[in-house]
Amino acid sequence: MTFSPELEARFEAFLAKYPADRKRSAMIPMLIYGQDEVGSITDELVEEVAKRVGVTPLQVREVSGFYSMLHHKPMGKYHVQVCTNISCLLVGGEELYERACQKLGLGHKQVSADGQISLEEVECMGACSWAPAVQVNYDFYHDVTPAMLDKLLDGLKAGKAPEQISEVQKVNS
Ligand code: FES
Repeated sequence: MTFSPELEARFEAFLAKYPADRKRSAMIPMLIYGQDEVGSITDELVEEVAKRVGVTPLQVREVSGFYSMLHHKPMGKYHVQVCTNISCLLVGGEELYERACQKLGLGHKQVSADGQISLEEVECMGACSWAPAVQVNYDFYHDVTPAMLDKLLDGLKAGKAPEQISEVQKVNS
């Protein structure tokens, strides 16, 4: 399998961090960045990562099946994740998720017909202090209100990138 030079360099850097008998420790970051480039955890990606970290493809599948951030089918260009775990649940996370389902016409891990937007109900994203939290790709949105969510989703549906939706500021970039 062929990867971009950037991803090859990243893989090399990950593998170089671990001794020869611990290369498997690089498996998860390799799968995450591989997924970003390939689009999902494909059989080819699994085989390649297994070969490079020195485990069997089955062992890679066991890991990739455990972590919900690893997807076995392509998600949308903009992957909207709404947290409904306890801190977010207490301040409206579940209502935000239901609102997102209605607004997008999507359910959990479903992708819009044009492949632009996907939706996922997720467990704690580590942003409990700023609940309720929403994430689009790698960007967080904190203290999300229904109005903020509407603006974010309306913007995405209109074909805007998240950074073009000025009414809703992401926390990191
Ligand atoms: S419970 Fe939602 S970010 Fe932690």
